[in-house]
Amino acid sequence: MINFQFLLTSLEGGIFTITINRPDKLNALNRGVIDELDAAFDLVHDNDEIRGVIITGAGAKAFVAGADITEFISFTPEQAREMSANGHRVFNKIEAAPKPVIAAVNGFALGGGCELAMCCHMRIAGENAMFGQPEINLGLIPGYGGTQRLLRYIGRAKGIELLLTADFVNANDAHQLGLVNHVTSREEMIPKCQSILNKIISKSPLVIDQIIACANSYYNKQEDGFELEIDEFTKCIATEDFKEGTAAFLEKRVAKFTGK
Ligand code: COA
Repeated sequence: MINFQFLLTSLEGGIFTITINRPDKLNALNRGVIDELDAAFDLVHDNDEIRGVIITGAGAKAFVAGADITEFISFTPEQAREMSANGHRVFNKIEAAPKPVIAAVNGFALGGGCELAMCCHMRIAGENAMFGQPEINLGLIPGYGGTQRLLRYIGRAKGIELLLTADFVNANDAHQLGLVNHVTSREEMIPKCQSILNKIISKSPLVIDQIIACANSYYNKQEDGFELEIDEFTKCIATEDFKEGTAAFLEKRVAKFTGK
């Protein structure tokens, strides 16, 4: 097994548990986390001892509160494009894993955190889970697939509402919307993931891989939307509104947007 800086990992009974471990930053996805998820999913693809995966976040408050805002605040458009395209590549790799991947959502799953949960095959939400795509508050659009996957899970009407209002939805509402498979108490969340994975991994690894590939193929027909998202995310980085939105977040004040 690889020694990771930002991920805690364990492999027990065929279940590979990945814990994103930056609790003081609410497990925000910096480049190091994305690179390590990339390497971890190379392992998932290649290591036959891994039969199923759980992704969760460290600490009591957050699964992942988004991409690390401090890291891309002064990016050039070229760097923004590379960031978004790289995130898409890694999240597509997670979605294409030939073994079942479950997000155990133990708190905030916002922005890149919601996008990470959505590229997993299933989501089990602890009762304190909160989902949302609040990028619009930063003068930004989602950049890791959120404009596409959210609508595929919860439909066009509610999906557009959440993208445009930045509203959060709690675990029970997310369950009703079809974003979440099950809601559990905090303590039952990981055992529930393990019990689902144990049921699946008693079945044929070949057939599991085939079903995931066929299911992904059904939902990945509109690839253009993902490319458009990368283009539009890149454009945001050069705007005054993005500078204002991210500065306001870091200064803990409300942003004043001008449309420039
Ligand atoms: N990127 C970088 N740092 C982040 C972060 C992110 N996406 N989300 C939270 N943090 C940091 C905060 O800056 C803070 O750091 P500090 O202690 O050094 O000031 C720490 O994590 C705790 O967050 P804080 O905002 O103080 O917690 P809170 O309980 O008041 O609010 C949230 C929790 C999740 C509502 C709030 O952190 C938030 O809105 N985060 C950003 C969500 C977002 O816009 N995600 C999309 C990013 S593209």
